[in-house]
Amino acid sequence: MPTDTLQTVKVHPLIVRITHWVNAFAILLMVASGWRIYNASPLFDFKFPKDLTLGGWLAGALQWHFAAMWLLALNGLVYVVYGILAGHFRRKLLPISPGALLRDVGAALRGRLAHDDLRVYNAAQRAAYLGAIVLGVVLMLSGLVIWKPVQFHALGALMGDYEGARLLHFFAMAALVMFVVVHVLMVALVPRTLPTMFTGRARVRKA
Ligand code: HEM
Repeated sequence: MPTDTLQTVKVHPLIVRITHWVNAFAILLMVASGWRIYNASPLFDFKFPKDLTLGGWLAGALQWHFAAMWLLALNGLVYVVYGILAGHFRRKLLPISPGALLRDVGAALRGRLAHDDLRVYNAAQRAAYLGAIVLGVVLMLSGLVIWKPVQFHALGALMGDYEGARLLHFFAMAALVMFVVVHVLMVALVPRTLPTMFTGRARVRKA
């Protein structure tokens, strides 16, 4: 394509790029240490492979989990507060209509999902990103109940108390891990999105 038909545009603000990568790193630590904590007292009839876990033993894994928790909570808060106050969520993640969502998920499954203008997320992306944010909030709240069941008793009552919060925490983790697997797969299918999450810019066709 002749270069005079291209222009450089801003795709992701700096704060979104920084919080995205810090969140991704913190979530990796949370999941790997969380799997080690789960292995010490499994909810179900299986354990996670030891090589995929972090912390070595229960107390070590708990230390990792709590350290990464502060990183994720503070960094996640910066992302969410920025997203709401700066209108980033309203501009990039909304609106989502059920029709557009069905159309885009169908196109994605057939490998025909267009993502030509990197400044605009399609409906499948909007729903997935909003879903990941909601899962993050659910994980934080259910984690608080598991950590301090007495102090967060009222919150726990909404989740079926301690045991309910444990189940909710587990299934929200499983859903977030599924999101990450699909998310990374989609990035691999449209690799030109990856540099934009570092540089914040992309070259697009002039209007
Ligand atoms: C581990 C947990 C991860 C979570 C929770 C997550 C979540 C998100 C969210 C919410 C967005 C939208 C950001 C916004 O505009 O506000 C996003 C975008 C993006 N993420 Fe992730 N992400 C994760 C990991 C990764 C990884 C490992 C990669 C790289 C392989 C990646 C690559 C990207 C890219 C390239 C975009 C921009 C997509 C586009 O412009 O079409 N993410 N991610």
